[in-house]
Amino acid sequence: MLFSNIVNLSLTALITATAGQAAPAARNNGKNDKGGASATYAECQRPKDVQGTQLQGCPNNTIYVSKTDPQSGFGSIQQAVLSLPNDNSSQVILIGPGSYHEVVNVTRKGPVTLLGMTYDPTNWESNLVKLWSSSFINQTTQTAGQDNADAVTLTVSPNRAASLIGAGPAGAPLQPEFGNVDFKIYNIDVANRATVNGKEFMGQTGPSAALIVAYSNFSSYQSTYRSWQDTVFVGRNGSALFYGGEIRGATDYLYGFGTAWFEGVTMANRGNGGGIVAWKGSSNIYGPDSFGAYQANGKIVRAPDAPATANLTLASPLGRPWNNASRSIYLNTYMSDIVLPQGFIAWSDKEPRIVPNLTFFGEYGSYGPGFNAAARNTSVETLLTKEQAAEYTVDKVFGGMPAWIDVGTAVIGQVA
Ligand SMILES: *[C@@H]1O[C@H](CO)[C@@H](O)[C@H](O)[C@H]1NC(C)=O
Ligand SMILES: *[C@@H]1O[C@H](CO)[C@@H](O)[C@H](O)[C@H]1NC(C)=O
Ligand SMILES: *[C@@H]1O[C@H](CO)[C@@H](O)[C@H](O)[C@H]1NC(C)=O
Ligand SMILES: *[C@@H]1O[C@H](CO)[C@@H](O)[C@H](O)[C@H]1NC(C)=O
Ligand SMILES: *[C@@H]1O[C@H](CO)[C@@H](O)[C@H](O)[C@H]1NC(C)=O
Ligand SMILES: *[C@@H]1O[C@H](CO)[C@@H](O)[C@H](O)[C@H]1NC(C)=O
Ligand SMILES: *[C@@H]1O[C@H](CO)[C@@H](O)[C@H](O)[C@H]1NC(C)=O
Ligand SMILES: *[C@@H]1O[C@H](CO)[C@@H](O)[C@H](O)[C@H]1NC(C)=O
Ligand SMILES: *[C@@H]1O[C@H](CO)[C@@H](O)[C@H](O)[C@H]1NC(C)=O
Ligand SMILES: *[C@@H]1O[C@H](CO)[C@@H](O)[C@H](O)[C@H]1NC(C)=O
Repeated sequence: MLFSNIVNLSLTALITATAGQAAPAARNNGKNDKGGASATYAECQRPKDVQGTQLQGCPNNTIYVSKTDPQSGFGSIQQAVLSLPNDNSSQVILIGPGSYHEVVNVTRKGPVTLLGMTYDPTNWESNLVKLWSSSFINQTTQTAGQDNADAVTLTVSPNRAASLIGAGPAGAPLQPEFGNVDFKIYNIDVANRATVNGKEFMGQTGPSAALIVAYSNFSSYQSTYRSWQDTVFVGRNGSALFYGGEIRGATDYLYGFGTAWFEGVTMANRGNGGGIVAWKGSSNIYGPDSFGAYQANGKIVRAPDAPATANLTLASPLGRPWNNASRSIYLNTYMSDIVLPQGFIAWSDKEPRIVPNLTFFGEYGSYGPGFNAAARNTSVETLLTKEQAAEYTVDKVFGGMPAWIDVGTAVIGQVA
């Protein structure tokens, strides 16, 4: 493969940093949205001026998708995905600038990389590729056969049974299958723009996912995910790392049953319903991972497109337990004044789902106007000590540094 621009982060340095020694240089201080300054595929992703040269700098056999360039092989991302051989080979798809209105469903097991073209892969705010669809589940009229998995823009999962969210504390039944072993997405804005009466509805409609990952290993680099409710789901036997980028939602917008690490991601609230995170846990361990939602070196802000009438000040809970084995941790996170002073909350008054020594919510190194240690509800969450926080690192939660993370692009910060 032709890699350009692999800079400065050796695996040795990374392992040293996560072993709890010297503090790293890479701390996202809440002002820097860019994360690290390196990008493995920068030369491939750079839009070229000369016709016919777009694939220069790309791994061999990269497939090119574009709505406008006659030299591309496909005009649709899903058509390109469906063209891939059903084997274990690594496949790369480069996507030209533009807006792709389609549903993408990746069931292939072999490694797949989606690259959005961009002049600056280190900055999600300059992304040029949008992938979106418009669907939601109306919870008033929902039928027994309908599931959140039926209203989603990007799915990475072996089949429909594995994508299902299901109901109750155990969710959909465990499946004996694994999907993609190494799915990567770079610089793509993924959204579910739920439409009502022919128009994007800028408010709560019901579950409307931008992304579902289940029974797969997934990583995201400087990509964004937007909807209002249930925006990003990482389900059973799913392992996911999100590096940089933004996730925008209003209600329980990070939810799941698997293991997800968010490094330097901006969480942008469009409103408040539930909390930012609603995770489930189980006494069944799905793999070597420790299920849970872990956020490090990111920030929590009001979304720029939150309705002007929504007063989010001091109102956004950090999370709530989808079941009583929920686990959610925030490390070194900038908290703007939208954060609820109490921090995490119970599921509801009638059904709190907070069980001591089972439900686990924690924070370490939170800072900014939304963090007031004295106001945090310590009957619901724990203000972690440095030693406790050091138990939550990428290599520890995934049972070893995952081979599927692009460490040439992701700078994983040391927290405690
Ligand atoms: C990619 O293709 C070029 C030209 O055919 C070849 O020289 C190179 O060895 C190939 N690289 C890999 C990693 O297969
Ligand atoms: C792909 O890899 C899996 C696991 O190593 C193996 O069982 C399977 O036979 C491989 N499939 C192909 C088409 O090579
Ligand atoms: C994805 O494709 C698989 C295989 O065709 C299908 O079983 C599944 O229902 C699809 N999932 C979604 C969410 O469309
Ligand atoms: C959901 O369905 C109910 C009952 O048909 C309807 O009143 C409501 O407007 C629907 N919600 C949306 C967002 O379309
Ligand atoms: C989870 O997936 C792994 C493959 O990564 C597999 O070995 C393991 O058996 C799966 N766990 C369950 C409970 O299905
Ligand atoms: C918004 O809510 C906060 C916290 O309850 C309150 O102090 C503030 O006055 C409210 N702002 C407006 C414009 O209503
Ligand atoms: C935790 O939730 C499970 C599933 O709802 C329930 O069976 C169990 O009793 C709960 N545990 C406690 C201690 O409340
Ligand atoms: C802390 O959470 C518990 C459980 O939901 C609740 O009963 C209590 O009122 C909360 N305390 C504060 C200060 O919010
Ligand atoms: C929780 O665990 C701690 C440490 O093991 C123990 O001291 C404490 O009694 C436990 N609390 C409950 C309510 O079980
Ligand atoms: C998926 O990722 C986990 C955690 O890194 C790893 O243990 C597991 O082997 C991976 N599964 C496959 C099938 O590669």
